Parts: sequence; C-alpha cells; structure tokens
Amino acid sequence: MFKTGGLLVSLEGIDGCGKSTQFELLQARLAEKGIPFIAVREPGGTAVGEGIRKVLLQTSYSLTTEAEMLLYLAARAELCKQIILPSLREGKMVLCDRFIDSTQAYQGYGGGLDLRWIKQLNWQVTGGRLPDLTFILNLSVEKAAERRGSSLDRLEMRDLSYHRRVQQGYLKVARQEPERVEVLDAAMAKDNLFTVLWSKLQPVIEMYYKMRSDHDFQ
Ligand code: TMP
Repeated sequence: MFKTGGLLVSLEGIDGCGKSTQFELLQARLAEKGIPFIAVREPGGTAVGEGIRKVLLQTSYSLTTEAEMLLYLAARAELCKQIILPSLREGKMVLCDRFIDSTQAYQGYGGGLDLRWIKQLNWQVTGGRLPDLTFILNLSVEKAAERRGSSLDRLEMRDLSYHRRVQQGYLKVARQEPERVEVLDAAMAKDNLFTVLWSKLQPVIEMYYKMRSDHDFQ
C-alpha cells in the first residue's frame, strides 16, 4: 500500500445501493476532521468527462456495449491524466465515486465484454495505478430497484438480470482482490453503514498520514 504516492480510495456498487449518500457522508467526515482530500465522480469530473456522462446516461438513443465501454474509458483517461494521477503524485488523498471496477462489473460482467480487454484499457488509462482501498456496497438487486424509484437513466433502466450480473461481477472482483476490496452490506441503515465504512477507512488514513508525518490525525 502507498507504494506509488497518494492515497486512492474508490466506492463502488450497483445503482441504488446508496453509494452517493456514503460518498457525501465520507466527504463531510473528512472535512470535519480537517483531512485534505479531492473527490471525483465517474463518469465526469472534467469538462470532457461531464460531456461524455451526458452521452452515456441519456435515454434517447442506444449505444453498443463496446462504444459505451470506450466512452467510460475516455472519460477516465481525462480524469486520470488531469486530476487523479497529478493529485496522487502530490501525495493527496483522492476519493472516487466509481472507478475501474465499475467497467469490469457493468460492461464486463453485465454487458459481456472481454474482461481482459477492459483490464488492459484500464491499465493504460490509469498508468497501472490501482486504488489502495475499494469499498463495494453490496445490495440485492430487488432492494436496489426499490431505492432507485422511477426516474431512471439509460443504465438504470436495464432489467434485473443485467443488474444481477453486475452485482455478482462486483463480488467476483472482490474475491479476486481481497487485499484491495472490502465488501460492505449496504442493506443496513445509512448511518450504521457509514460507521462500518469509516471504521475500515480510518486506520488506512491514519497509517498514510503517519507515514507522511505531515498531518496530525485527530
Ligand atoms: P452513477 O449513477 O453512480 O453516477 O454512475 C453512472 C452510471 O454509469 C451507473 O449506472 C454506472 C455506470 N458506469 C458504467 O456502466 N461503467 C463505468 O465504467 C462507470 C464509471 C459507470
């Protein structure tokens, strides 16, 4: 951990798992403790990335899974080159609302694209920088569908079997990389879930700042 500078943390999960709420709670906790960080979301976070996000989430025309995947990767390339990698090089903590595992789970396990192809492209756009820690918020597709409500974007509109493949895909990623990926039970109440998430992240942040010894962690 921390071999390549900075601290990179990502949050992942199927649509409706409560990820955005946890992301907000996390930012609030870090701000309250005076811990510096940069927060980005995918797809997005740059001018081009936000434009690509609109193309990806619109509902008026369809996209092939290949084009969809390449657009996510294009947005990621911009975000990595412009924000994530320079910030990590400066030793900053970067929080990502979705990152490489979303593409594995959605376009790979969900959409059936070659997982090795996705891994290779991810490797190229991220310069091989994996997150130091990834939280997967795991929730059943039925509960997630309830939470999503009725105003849905292009990906949210897909059927339950697609979302189930995505959810199972995430769990496979977690089994393959247990040292990087923590699976959290997202069925619990949001405050309890945040308590669990924070209890796992806090020691990692403490360790990071101890190593850098330039910030008193309280
Ligand atoms: P969000 O709702 O979490 O903002 O994410 C936007 C949608 O994009 C969500 O349905 C997941 C999807 N997505 C992919 O399919 N592949 C990816 O690589 C990323 C980053 C997101």
